[in-house]
This record gives sequence, C-alpha cells and structure tokens, in this order.
Amino acid sequence: MLSYKFLGLALVVSAWALPFKREVPQEHSHNIVLASVRPMLDLNNPNNIEDPVFGLLGDAAAAAGAGSITNLDCLQQATADQAFTNAKAAGNVTGMAFSLIYRAIERNTGAVGLASVICNETATNPEIAALTQHQDPASTNASAINKAITLELAKQIASVGGDPTLALISGTFAPGQIGDPTAKGNTCDVEDDEPGCIFSQNLLVEDATTAEISAAVAGISATATSAAAASATSAAASAASAADDETATCASIVTVTVTASATATAATEIASAATSAAATATATATASATGTNLQTFTGALGGVTAPSVIAAGSGFEVTTEPEDPFVNLAAALGRSCDIQHNQCADAANSSGNSAFTVGDCDTQDTQCKAASSS
Ligand SMILES: *[C@@H]1O[C@H](CO)[C@@H](O)[C@H](O)[C@H]1NC(C)=O
Ligand SMILES: *[C@@H]1O[C@H](CO)[C@@H](O)[C@H](O)[C@H]1NC(C)=O
Ligand SMILES: *[C@@H]1O[C@H](CO)[C@@H](O)[C@H](O)[C@H]1NC(C)=O
Ligand SMILES: *[C@@H]1O[C@H](CO)[C@@H](O)[C@H](O)[C@H]1NC(C)=O
Repeated sequence: MLSYKFLGLALVVSAWALPFKREVPQEHSHNIVLASVRPMLDLNNPNNIEDPVFGLLGDAAAAAGAGSITNLDCLQQATADQAFTNAKAAGNVTGMAFSLIYRAIERNTGAVGLASVICNETATNPEIAALTQHQDPASTNASAINKAITLELAKQIASVGGDPTLALISGTFAPGQIGDPTAKGNTCDVEDDEPGCIFSQNLLVEDATTAEISAAVAGISATATSAAAASATSAAASAASAADDETATCASIVTVTVTASATATAATEIASAATSAAATATATATASATGTNLQTFTGALGGVTAPSVIAAGSGFEVTTEPEDPFVNLAAALGRSCDIQHNQCADAANSSGNSAFTVGDCDTQDTQCKAASSS
C-alpha cells in the first residue's frame, strides 16, 4: 500500500489554458504538481515567470513565459527555487514538497530518447540545488538516473518535514520507441485532468519501492520547518478522527490511501475528497472572521497598509484572504507583507506616480518582514 497525501484545494483548480504552441506535449501530465506550485510562485514572483508550466516546455515554447529568466534550461529550476523560497517563508510544508517535486519532473524534449539539458546554475535553496529533472525513460541509463533522482527527492522532502513517498509522483512514463516520428512515446497530456493524466490513465511508472524510499530517508529529520509540519500533521490527525476510514479531510489536507496499482481509482477518490475539503475550508474561514489585528507593521507607502491578520480556528488568517488559513502566525504575517508589497508595487508603477518606486516598496517589505519576525 502506498499513501499519497495530496493538498485538497490544489485539486479543484479548474481547467486553464495558454496560447502557445506545444512541443511533444506532456507538460500537463502531472497537473497536481503545477496546481500546487502555481500559488506558491504567485506569492512573490520577481522574475515575472508566467506560469510553472513553461519550465517544462522546450526552449522555444518556454521563452514565451519565462519572464526575465534568459537561460531557458534553468527556467524549471528558477521556478522551483522561487516557489520553494516563498513556501518556506510561508511555513507551508506542502508547498515546499511540491516545489521540490516540480523541480524533479521530466521536461519535454524534441524526440523519444533525447535527454533534456541539465541546468548549469546553482539554485539558492540547497534542497532545490540537490535535484535535477527526470529524463526521458528511453534515454541512456534513464532508469538508474530517474531512480536516483526520486530517492534524492524523497530525502529532500523528508528534510523539510513532508511525506517522502510523495517523491514517487515525480515518476515518468514507460519508455517510448526510439525514432518514433511523433516524439510522443507513451505520454499523455490532458490540460483539464486533475490530478493529471499520468495518474488518471494509470501511466505512471514508479521509480522505486516504498521500502527503497524508507531506506533512503532513514536518519533524515526535518529542520526548521518541523514545527509547521507537526502542527499540520496534528490538524490532519484531528480531522481524520472525524472522517471515515477511507478518506480523511481537514481544511487543507486530504489523505487518500491507494494501492500502487489502483491509481486511476484513486484519482476519482482524490477528486471527491478534494471537493469536500474545499467546502470545509470555506466553512471554517467564514465562521471565524473576527478578532484582534496581529499585524503590527504600520508602514503605508502610497496609503497601502499591510492587511490585518487575525486568529482563526486553530490558526491564523489574513482578513483579505480568509479562504487561505495559516497554521502559524509568522506565515500569515509574511503573507500580509507580501500582499502589501504587491499592491505597493502596482501603485508605484501606476501612471502619474512619482512619489515612490518599486525599490521603495521592496525596502518597506523588508521592514514589514523584519517587524513580523520580531
Ligand atoms: C500551501 O501550499 C499548497 C500547495 O501549493 C497550497 O495549495 C495551499 O493553499 C497552501 N496553504 C496555505 C495555508 O497557504
Ligand atoms: C550556462 O549555460 C548557458 C547557456 O548555454 C551559458 O550562456 C552560460 O554561460 C552558462 N553559465 C555557466 C555558469 O556556465
Ligand atoms: C547510470 O546512472 C547512475 C545514477 O545516476 C550512475 O550512478 C551510473 O554511473 C550511470 N551509469 C552509466 C553507465 O552511465
Ligand atoms: C514596473 O514597471 C516596470 C517598467 O514598466 C516593469 O519592468 C516592472 O516589472 C514593473 N514592476 C512591477 C512590480 O509591476
């Protein structure tokens, strides 16, 4: 048995489309990963990367959404690195785990058996820097390379307090035929399939067994973020006790236990569990929108204040985003600073403003973050 813990809300993201020409499409095969990294990237995206999907495309298509990243072979890493940084600042273990998984999934290339280029830059976060992307399963030595990547990914997920078996979802397809003129191999690419067609069509080839994962992560303990993980785990545990034994839901975590060979069935179960988790999250957020403002930072360039943060349920919320509760106060305050920073930058860039610059907003954001952590 293999236990997949998915974040419920990420599964109800609706179909989403982009006006670009695809090459060897499989970039939507692991949609759950894109849907989970997207909100983390959106928290702070200084390079203006348009969407995580671009990092999985070949250079020509990737260029259309790479923002200020010019080394397209490093777009996947840069996207993962920024999403991880943001998730870490927010104390979001799920977000960190999916940023790591995203870094490790295969990137499109132009032919079956052709490996993608490895990024030649060093990521800011050592957890991201430890990883590279899966390679085309028909490329040289791919099964050993991909297995090594998955085991390293499991270690990195464990090091931030996540479930290391999640690393298995970074796996790819069965090898295609070298010389296949369509370059498609055994892939799938369905844009509106959640959690992703590689799961719903049962095409995932797992790189390792759970025993191998357990052996790989033995002795690894979570670092600074373990408090957030423990808190999330205990929230999940209390919700689990109230749910049926097949599916446990809470405001943000869905646990579904599936056999490794029943992924297609699992996808349906995951989707329905996600719907009820989302409903629970909405109800919880609505029920607790009162309280004292815990955001003490008073800077307000352009009249834009950092939105209030209040205690809500067993955690905290930014009052402008009650649908996204936080398990710890520092994360909620950080999000409040981020919202102020985004609005400040918009104001700085609006026509007619000459009073302050985006750089001033950056400085204010640093002060806001410093106030939050004191
Ligand atoms: C944590 O990250 C997940 C995955 O991206 C996201 O769906 C969820 O909303 C985040 N949780 C909070 C409290 O922001
Ligand atoms: C990395 O590769 C890019 C693209 O080939 C090249 O322009 C750049 O100089 C390389 N950077 C390093 C640090 O080797
Ligand atoms: C195959 O890949 C593994 C894992 O990266 C590596 O240890 C091994 O040396 C590689 N073998 C060959 C023949 O390249
Ligand atoms: C502000 O405007 C400049 C110039 O148009 C642009 O390069 C920059 O990305 C904008 N920044 C933000 C945060 O909107």
